[in-house]
Amino acid sequence: MRLLAAAAGFIVLVQAAAQQDVALKDLMPKGMVIGVAINQRQFDGTDTAGVALITKQFNQISPENALKFQPTQPAADRYTFEAADRYVQFGVERHMQVVGHNLVWHSQTGAWVFEGAEGKPADRDTLLARMRDHIRTVVGRYKGKIHGWDVVNEAIDEDGSLRKSPWQVGIGDDYVAKAFEFAHDADPDAELYYNDFNLEKPAKRAGVIKLVKDLQARKLRIDGIGNQAHWRLDTPTIEEIDGALVELHGTGLKVMYTELDINLLQNIARGADPATANPYANGLPDDVQQQLTRRYADVFGVFVKHRDAVTRVTFWGLSDADSWLNRGRMNYPLLWDRQRQPKPAFNAVVDVLRSAK
Ligand code: XIL
Repeated sequence: MRLLAAAAGFIVLVQAAAQQDVALKDLMPKGMVIGVAINQRQFDGTDTAGVALITKQFNQISPENALKFQPTQPAADRYTFEAADRYVQFGVERHMQVVGHNLVWHSQTGAWVFEGAEGKPADRDTLLARMRDHIRTVVGRYKGKIHGWDVVNEAIDEDGSLRKSPWQVGIGDDYVAKAFEFAHDADPDAELYYNDFNLEKPAKRAGVIKLVKDLQARKLRIDGIGNQAHWRLDTPTIEEIDGALVELHGTGLKVMYTELDINLLQNIARGADPATANPYANGLPDDVQQQLTRRYADVFGVFVKHRDAVTRVTFWGLSDADSWLNRGRMNYPLLWDRQRQPKPAFNAVVDVLRSAK
């Protein structure tokens, strides 16, 4: 009996080791890269287990925060590139596709950018000059190293109209076109993307498609639409994901899933006691684990079905411990658990990719 139990244990160990040995990057359809957004501990190398996993599993990286406006240009006369340089170096050393995220957004951008003289908002010319200087400096610095840039992030509102961001208010509707123009001038070889979320919602998707067509009509370079893919277990449905993909690809552009994660927690009101809305504080129940596994299998099923349209899939964080979706609670949105062990969802993704080969 004891021998049998030992043998069974050995087999389980061997199986686990075999799963750990599989690399997602080796299983992806041709022409589709697989990546992860990395944080400072990872590109600095202090998270050694994380670095090993990233190096083994992925052939593309995105910067979770390091290349945003605020961290790269905290003041008008000051650029800070220490972290960004290490991020880019991390990818270059490993021959990964290095993505830039992002140049123009309403968030994580210093208040100074939008301020004019005497407490008034900055005018159009001032804002355009600041935008051009930022884009030239940041994109120019990584010319030839960064494969593609999210030029404008989240410019469309839920109803499909152009978001009244401080960029839009100060410059006017052509601020998006200007950003793409400046980015192309700064690195003519870099791919340029428009990136947004909730693209499975028809009104918002229609707004994004209209925006993209306007850029195309102006003969500006745009290579792809980034669909952030911050999804949940049941929403959007697989049919909605599939339909949105087909419509977005109808613009003639590549489609990328740029910030994939599956949020298992409900939204809570701001300021609410996190403890009251933390149902999985002591672990994830088996049935929810299974739902997450099936969900990942289904979404990867869509990606491989449309392998001609999809050029990239990027997870927004490596393991559950790294995810921005925790925010004081316990969330389980990714393929590796807090001990950096592959979850059943990882195995399910491997199975889907293998059977598509
Ligand atoms: C998030 C980061 O993950 C967090 O660490 C940060 O505090 C806020 O931004 N859409 C985007 C990303 O385009 O840049 C955001 O990243 C998540 C939503």
